[in-house]
Amino acid sequence: MPTKPLHFIVISDTHYYSKRLGTEGRAYELDNQKSQKLLARAEEALRAAFAQIAKDGRSDIVLLSGDVVNNGEMFCHEEIIALLRELQEAGKRVFVITATHDYDEGHIYEGDKKIQTPSAKREDLRELYYEFGPAQSLAYHEESYSYVAQLAEGYRLFALNDDKNGEGRSGFSREAIAWIKEQIDDAQANNQMIIPMTHHPVIAPSPFYAMIGKGDMMGGHETFREQLADWGISFLFTGHTHIQDISFIVSEQGNVFYDVSTPSLVGYPGTYRHAIADKNANTLAITAEHITEPLDFDLQEAFESQFFGMVRDVITAAATSVPRFSEMARAFSIKPRMSLRFGWLLKPLAKWLTRLKIGKIAKWTKAETGLRPEDYSHIKEDTVVDFIISLVMRLFGGDAPYTPDTPQYKIAIGLLHILDSLLKICGVKFKVRPLVEPLLYNAGICDAEAVLDLSGPPVLPEFEETVRESRKGPWILAVAVLLLIILLPLIPVIALCVCIGFLVNELRFWRKIRN
Ligand SMILES: [Fe+2]
Ligand SMILES: [Fe+2]
Repeated sequence: MPTKPLHFIVISDTHYYSKRLGTEGRAYELDNQKSQKLLARAEEALRAAFAQIAKDGRSDIVLLSGDVVNNGEMFCHEEIIALLRELQEAGKRVFVITATHDYDEGHIYEGDKKIQTPSAKREDLRELYYEFGPAQSLAYHEESYSYVAQLAEGYRLFALNDDKNGEGRSGFSREAIAWIKEQIDDAQANNQMIIPMTHHPVIAPSPFYAMIGKGDMMGGHETFREQLADWGISFLFTGHTHIQDISFIVSEQGNVFYDVSTPSLVGYPGTYRHAIADKNANTLAITAEHITEPLDFDLQEAFESQFFGMVRDVITAAATSVPRFSEMARAFSIKPRMSLRFGWLLKPLAKWLTRLKIGKIAKWTKAETGLRPEDYSHIKEDTVVDFIISLVMRLFGGDAPYTPDTPQYKIAIGLLHILDSLLKICGVKFKVRPLVEPLLYNAGICDAEAVLDLSGPPVLPEFEETVRESRKGPWILAVAVLLLIILLPLIPVIALCVCIGFLVNELRFWRKIRN
């Protein structure tokens, strides 16, 4: 008898943040207000999401892929466990793995103060979440707290906790990988479709993320994904990046492998996944679901303004106030001391950037794009900052709309071609176009909704090249060299001015830098 397709829901990075932790005051603002997560409304967002999931009749299975609470706070664990039990009472089977945010670091915010609060230790998590998966497991791995559970006839969950690999990174120890292989062999011998989840990603959601977020990838991810692909696993549900994404690789042996990333449920875009695994058809269908339960405020708008506001405010602060920038840049892991020291050098550039309009760049890139003014008249007054913000939003939200026939795409790629031609003439092999292009349009699989055929690599649509290569690199270099020759006699004066600038800046902020 053919096995029925299996419906299930995946949520991730709930970062449960009880209002008892404090949602105002300077200490809270410094740590959290400029974050992608909307922590102050996390309780309401999660209650609404859980109420919606409880009513969703399509599936009785809910998977949660780690970062259950914000920072390990014990009473946040207690409060979200009560919510998870309500889901169970509504007839759902809940399967949880925990991750690095679930132990050790909890704080309460009171005015200017950040006070430690009792937090779970890693070893507490085993007992705290035992009823959400391990209690129903077929096999349990003591060291990693990973487990295998039967979801339905023919479908087996591999809930793999990758918070520690024993070598100071996320991932799995050799012993844990041997256990995973043993469990895969057993599942395959019993003709099961394997549904695996970890917390950390094994494929970067964009080339940009691969460059700046390397430390956020699962330790040993390149080896692990090849192993899984060649052991007959074709997909993995992950979280951690807070980015909505579906990416794939083809292993050296030619096997396709997808990383399906579910974003955080408490920050933009604030979605969860509904998935249908079909063992007979060998497919996995995925959708993204927004929280639509009524609240006394517009949650989607609140997620967007938290995120939009964060990116815009950081750029505006960089252009207007070094101390403000030093406070806000913390959201991007830039240390305040660093931004206080060098922010003044960045300020003129940020000021220029906030005033720069798309129309100006369209003129610079006319030779590369071939666009006439009437082709971009509707966007010529848009600011470059807004465009950059929209790209960052797309990075988190998934799909990017600027296909190769749009003026936005042509202008952006034209500019990248100019930069690449300059890098080439300078002997730099690195290219910026491949780094930024995936933020403009989705050349691969839709990140929100897709039906993945697991039997082989997907066939992707091909687009014709719409932007010419740039020949401006040698000219820009020649002008730069000429300027350098003209300014050569002034170099000691310029160097002196920079030194004085540093000194004045150190004196202005010496107390802040020292602190
Ligand atoms: Fe997270
Ligand atoms: Fe995480």
